[in-house]
Amino acid sequence: MTRAKNFNAGPAALPLQALERAQKELLDFEGTGMSVMEQSHRGKEYEKVHDEARAQIARLLGAPADYEVLFLQGGASQQFAVIPMNFLTEKSAAAYVVTGVWGEKAVGEAQIVAKSVGAEVVVAASTEANKTYVKVPGDAQIKVPDGAKYMHFTSNETIHGVQFATAEGAAFPTPTPHVPVICDMSSDFLWRKVDVSKFDMIYAGAQKNIGPSGVTVVVAKKSFLESGRKDIPKIFQYRTHVENKSLYNTPPTFGIYLVRNVLTWLEEKGGLSAMETENRAKAAALYGAIDRNPGFYKCPVEKGSRSFMNVVFRLPSEEQEEAFVKRAKSAGMVGLKGHRSVGGIRVSLYNAVPLAWVTELVTLMDEFAGASP
Ligand SMILES: Cc1ncc(COP(=O)(O)O)c(C=O)c1O
Repeated sequence: MTRAKNFNAGPAALPLQALERAQKELLDFEGTGMSVMEQSHRGKEYEKVHDEARAQIARLLGAPADYEVLFLQGGASQQFAVIPMNFLTEKSAAAYVVTGVWGEKAVGEAQIVAKSVGAEVVVAASTEANKTYVKVPGDAQIKVPDGAKYMHFTSNETIHGVQFATAEGAAFPTPTPHVPVICDMSSDFLWRKVDVSKFDMIYAGAQKNIGPSGVTVVVAKKSFLESGRKDIPKIFQYRTHVENKSLYNTPPTFGIYLVRNVLTWLEEKGGLSAMETENRAKAAALYGAIDRNPGFYKCPVEKGSRSFMNVVFRLPSEEQEEAFVKRAKSAGMVGLKGHRSVGGIRVSLYNAVPLAWVTELVTLMDEFAGASP
């Protein structure tokens, strides 16, 4: 069997070690004579996995003791709706920083909720220009109304390859005093260290950096989650899931088990410091290939906003882009086509993508640029 060199944007590559462990344990999980999928979610075998995965996330992030880790369902898209449902009240406002399509979608859902409760959604900043996004805003461009219930932003816009990150480190928007900060970290969760105490809530779909689809992770200040509305269905109240340690209803047990396997791999690799070093090396190699062939490859994103996770670029023509994807495929590399809404090439460099694959891709890029007229 030859494993594909998988550069998909999500669902995405998973570490071989995590998959092999699942394969080994599939038919008989820890001597129970059943797979982990067949266990009760209230049984001690599954609960051990569940608690371990929650603890791993808290440990890897260095989350303060008053933070909770939740496993929810419905993807990050469901959080777009559930966040305003919990925190918007009549005559209140929520602020959104929009740096791409995912931020737009979050605003769209918040507007629906705001209308029904008589609240307001304020776009605190948008970097949209010519129907696309090529940068993140600076603090001076972000206008959050006093007393807003929260400020929401997307740390990495997966489609546009725009990220709040620089060569020097994080560059998240500076919080407005007394306004809770909520971040959609779906496509750059656990790729590097972040100061969790600066966020009231972080959420992410698992299917990019930490596992399969079907698991949504929330890491948030417990008091913030508990401050949400009590007049919405229980299943949508964050407090329900805090009180029940994400076992209020049946969780996606196999997905959480796989997250556990991936995080064990990440911890054994040296945790987030080691991961960040490797991720930065991967991105540097790839942007290096783009920048040294300026007549051939073009990254539309401004240098200070380029994503370390999703590198987007164009070739001189769509025909050449197609030929490039085909050439890469013949070398075992898949998942390189840009999102259907923007076209071009997108290379996703999530944690499970090793530097060796990127080196191979970079060699191919140099050759392809050199061989093309
Ligand atoms: C940044 C970001 N937010 C939200 C989503 C939506 O996630 P889901 O499909 O899990 O609802 C995605 C999906 O790619 C994403 O990249």
